[in-house]
Amino acid sequence: MAEIVGGLFTSHVPAIGGAIAKGLESDPYWSPFFDGFGPVHEWLERARPDVAVIFYNDHGLNFFLDKMPTFAIGAAPEYRNADEGWGLPVQGALRGHTALSWHLIESLVADEFDITTCQEMLVDHALVVPIQLAWPATTDYPVRIVPIAINTVQHPLPSPRRCLALGRAVGEALRRWPGDERVAIFGTGGLSHQLEGKRAGHINKEYDRFCMDSLAADPEALIRHSALDIVELAGSQGVEILNWIAARGALGEAAVERSRNYHIPISNTAAATMLLEPREAVPA
Ligand code: DHB
Ligand code: FE
Repeated sequence: MAEIVGGLFTSHVPAIGGAIAKGLESDPYWSPFFDGFGPVHEWLERARPDVAVIFYNDHGLNFFLDKMPTFAIGAAPEYRNADEGWGLPVQGALRGHTALSWHLIESLVADEFDITTCQEMLVDHALVVPIQLAWPATTDYPVRIVPIAINTVQHPLPSPRRCLALGRAVGEALRRWPGDERVAIFGTGGLSHQLEGKRAGHINKEYDRFCMDSLAADPEALIRHSALDIVELAGSQGVEILNWIAARGALGEAAVERSRNYHIPISNTAAATMLLEPREAVPA
């Protein structure tokens, strides 16, 4: 049985990758965001995951509007990054865990989730930036990854309810995995932001607070809104909270909030970082 050691939820704004490349973590603009990672790094030191299952959304690097799966899972031995603009340096390939990927795929299809299987998959800033944030001191990351891409880009989007169910099914499949891997769950993106149109720059602190307050204790609260409600509340890209909802589902029923950081703005985005642990992982 794989052990789920916790969940990291973080914004994945590409400019964060730019700041890392330029060494700007202590800059006054950036430090309120990067300083939120202290508890995350302490947790990773203690929990020592060897796998990261990462719920994220692709922004046009691997999938484009011509072919857009609702849910896609990587089953590749490695995942390459590629130039996606923003001046971001291309990162080295990340190691996959194909056996665990196939276990999740088999299990999800048996559970009647109609997923897309990707034996090749480029990963963009939404996956790479959170990995860089988690392990800032190295590029030789200690985890193998299983990427799970959720369509938050091309409507119609999956419902929040379906994303929570997907995450729960992933969590149950992980608990059935015969290996003894220690698994960190990542949910990336958000919080509220809208990058285009008349509402560009839209941020909704109240909704963001509701999301952060609900995530550990009451994830069901997050699925009372439809995906379109969330677009209205959080902005057209704020709907990336779907990745957080799925990741929360994978953590299991009872989870405890260990840290939270919220900072406005980073590049027109409400930037947030949260760390949750499954209740059974928390020392009494
Ligand atoms: C930006 C891009 C993102 O994918 C995101 O989640 C937030 C911000 C940006 O281009 O600023
Ligand atoms: Fe994004």
